[in-house]
Amino acid sequence: MKQSHDIKQTINMTPELMARIEELLSHYPADKRKSALLPILHDVQDAHDNWLSIELMDKVAEIIGIQPIEVYEVVTFYTMYNQRPIGKYMFEFCQTSCCATRGVEDLMDYTCNKLGVKVGEPTPDGMFEVRGVECLGACGYAPMMQLGDEFKEHLTKEKIDQLIQDCKDGKINLHYKVNG
Ligand code: FES
Repeated sequence: MKQSHDIKQTINMTPELMARIEELLSHYPADKRKSALLPILHDVQDAHDNWLSIELMDKVAEIIGIQPIEVYEVVTFYTMYNQRPIGKYMFEFCQTSCCATRGVEDLMDYTCNKLGVKVGEPTPDGMFEVRGVECLGACGYAPMMQLGDEFKEHLTKEKIDQLIQDCKDGKINLHYKVNG
């Protein structure tokens, strides 16, 4: 698989995006601008096909006035930030205890086999991807996953089949902006 440094990302800091960043920065004192980093990264990622290249992270550091390493630390820590282009429909299965004991690994295998991919690799058409994440705080509804901004709970193979079909039919709304 291509690494993020092999992939060029077009950086487009539109006036609207810059205005939003300035608005977020205005919530904090001048010497605490870093406090706005997480929401800024969300908005910058949303505006850039849902991923953050090194160049884009450097740009964010420059705008906020912090060191690039301070941005890399955050982006590499949280799974909601993507360091490479990801599948349009990202099936994020919780792999923590409750979901694990309720068979999430089987469901992940089933989904990967059905899509013909491995965990962490998008389908060739860029439509789907599967990844495992830590507890999403919906343990009572295990096994569960996040798809876009929604939780999909009490998952079964039949529900996975239906969700894949719903994605293909364009019935799943994603919060983030993606290609196509
Ligand atoms: S263990 Fe899966 S949501 Fe908490």
